[in-house]
Amino acid sequence: MCGIVGFNGYEQAAPILLEGLTKLEYRGYDSAGLAVRNDANDVELVKAKGRLRALYEKTNGGIAMQGTCGIGHTRWATHGEPNENNAHPHCSDDRNVVAVHNGIIENYKELQAKLLRHDYKFYSQTDTEIAVKLIDYYYKKYKGGPVDAIARAMMRIRGSYALAVLFKDYPNEIYTARKDSPMVIGIAGDETFMASDVPAILKYTRNVYFIGNMEIARLGKGTVEFFNIDRELIEKEPEEITWDAEAAEKGGFEHFMIKEIHEQPKAVRDTINTSVNEDGTIDLSPLGIDEEEIRKYTQIHIVACGSAYHVGMVSQYIIEDLCRIPVRVELASEFRYRNPILDPNGLVIVISQSGETADSLAALREAKSKGIPTLGIVNVIGSSIAREADHVFYTMAGPEIAVATTKAYSAQLICIYLLAIKFAEVRGTIDTEKRDQMIAELRTLPYKIERILEDKERIQWFAAKFSNAKDIFFIGRGIDYGITMEGSLKMKEVSYIHSEAYAAGELKHGTISLVEDGTLVIGSLTQKELYEKTLSNMLECKTRGAYLMGITSYGNYSIEDSADFTVYIPKTDPHFATSLAVIPLQLLGYYLSVTKGLNVDKPRNLAKSVTVE
Ligand code: F6R
Repeated sequence: MCGIVGFNGYEQAAPILLEGLTKLEYRGYDSAGLAVRNDANDVELVKAKGRLRALYEKTNGGIAMQGTCGIGHTRWATHGEPNENNAHPHCSDDRNVVAVHNGIIENYKELQAKLLRHDYKFYSQTDTEIAVKLIDYYYKKYKGGPVDAIARAMMRIRGSYALAVLFKDYPNEIYTARKDSPMVIGIAGDETFMASDVPAILKYTRNVYFIGNMEIARLGKGTVEFFNIDRELIEKEPEEITWDAEAAEKGGFEHFMIKEIHEQPKAVRDTINTSVNEDGTIDLSPLGIDEEEIRKYTQIHIVACGSAYHVGMVSQYIIEDLCRIPVRVELASEFRYRNPILDPNGLVIVISQSGETADSLAALREAKSKGIPTLGIVNVIGSSIAREADHVFYTMAGPEIAVATTKAYSAQLICIYLLAIKFAEVRGTIDTEKRDQMIAELRTLPYKIERILEDKERIQWFAAKFSNAKDIFFIGRGIDYGITMEGSLKMKEVSYIHSEAYAAGELKHGTISLVEDGTLVIGSLTQKELYEKTLSNMLECKTRGAYLMGITSYGNYSIEDSADFTVYIPKTDPHFATSLAVIPLQLLGYYLSVTKGLNVDKPRNLAKSVTVE
């Protein structure tokens, strides 16, 4: 989604802003713009449609824009098509207020009508221009200064937003405010930086302030002050970011996606190490969940979007099987509007890499409003879901830059395994011996993933063969069905090949009519009891002309009699099979995308962090 950066210091702002926007490119965007000013000089605005390169060219890498205080934006269109006119920054007619905005203003029509009555004119199709003019209106009407004007606008605006605002009368200050859209502020000496995501400012400082929901901040040169919605000053302590800056660079790999695929052994190992003691016991005390609470759970709801939802899909099989607690998995966008029936002794688990996904955040709030304990499985420290959930389980994946998730997905699975084993142990559905076996097996996963990665050239070869595929079907049963959902999503999002994931037994209830000569059908067969059944379903496709690829464990060599191409994964506890089977599927999506010459790290129309519903 959109990205915001800001700089207030003594160096030229525009080159710093451009560099910051480059670090946010992974979020997805279709136009970009800068607003920069020097002391009392008029603010200068430059915008460009398309990639950031166009903005670099228009401003000669930022050198052509004079000023030491400024804001920048990459826009991912929501209201109005992606063009220069709709690109941010937007300003009031007299340039009294200039601002950039992330998020969506839901009542923009009502606000626009109000402003039209006060003779404001609108030149773009954006909701942002309405926010800018609303702030300008309150600034001039009440003459209470920037914080007052922004607070008044915030009380009228419905929706989600992060704003960065410049006021003509306050040349050496930037103002920012947020609701449900992230914003982080960092100070290094006499310079202040702000951004909608940490990688944009990590080069300058590790000590950052997370501005809270419905709060406003005033950024001076090397200073920051925070205000609540009542315009009262509030105190805030900085938090330290522990990632290293290189974690957000490509480090010799051609793309972030393949780098992050290779970082999965580390992400898995680091996540295991957060909660597993040397003696194999699992310690969930940092999450604040005690054994008494675990014994009480009568149901678990897992709520998430996209790949995180697919983690939920496999989780239901694992948790129900190991803990005998009923689990329901739901898309956050459905959960939030469904008036769900939640047992007060239940637990709602919200899974989110970014911790900012609008629907997941809303689902979390829905559960909290009903008084149900919530647990966030989150990768980004200090993100909204991490701050608002009753309990937080951090995935140790480090910054994930490629839009298509890989290592965060793998780390989320580990959190689920650990929760399931711990819950099962506490509730007495597994004994200590079984726990020890499972933990020992869990610790082998990083090595097993490495082993699969060593064989990546076979997948690369296979991808080259199928780069012209039009439709691909993924099938599996049980946990394998969950695995294929993620494989299919990876395929669609980065290679633009239509694919569908089907419960293997369901295909013949309609969809098999799409299978014809040469259609690629990929079966996942990691669960021993379901192996024969899924194989039969694959054969039903082969009889209708399908080309079969199978993913199964070493030892299941009978698959060679039916499948045209097989990828073997090391044997593991069946509950953990997803962690291994997903790796070849991620590689397949990646190599198909690269073979087709596509932008694998930033697929079209997608955004890394979906902060609008
Ligand atoms: C797919 C992908 C998305 C995200 C989804 C949720 O590769 O990355 O489907 O999983 O948008 O995002 P988070 O986990 O940030 O809530």
